[in-house]
Amino acid sequence: MALTNEVTSVLNEQINKEMYSAYLYLTFADYYEDRGLKGFANWYEIQAKEEMDHALAIRRYLLDNDFKPTMEAIAKPDKVFENDLAPLEAGLAHEEYVTSLIHHCYEVAHEAHDVRTMKFLDWFVSEQGEEETNARDMITNMKLFGCDPKGLYDLDREYQARTYVQSASLNL
Ligand code: FEO
Repeated sequence: MALTNEVTSVLNEQINKEMYSAYLYLTFADYYEDRGLKGFANWYEIQAKEEMDHALAIRRYLLDNDFKPTMEAIAKPDKVFENDLAPLEAGLAHEEYVTSLIHHCYEVAHEAHDVRTMKFLDWFVSEQGEEETNARDMITNMKLFGCDPKGLYDLDREYQARTYVQSASLNL
């Protein structure tokens, strides 16, 4: 069964949004790199890789369903960060926005009675929940411990330990 134009359109747009997310998180990593917080930079570099994986998974899904996606221009991230908390707060706001986009994709698939796409999007719905939790935890940790140099050092060490693992559930 072919995907509807509405479904392919929102999924194609979502590829672009995921690539933008990767770009955005690279600017977070750049901010922390400049601050000497290599653990935070590492965390966001890995986050950027995950976002590119999301884009690739959606691209692959469209190709496997006989639709040729179009790669549109990626917007330039333009945020300037005033302090170490600011990227974390921008990260949570961004993930909440992405959640709303994923839910919209799901609604469009639901309206089209497109069970296959709904099933495909299930993973993204769960992933967004996890990403919002992570983003909230990072804000909490920064507020609790970030004002103390030793606390900030320990947090940075913790984020340095994150390693990139490609999700086995994603067909890339
Ligand atoms: Fe792929 Fe964090 O949204």
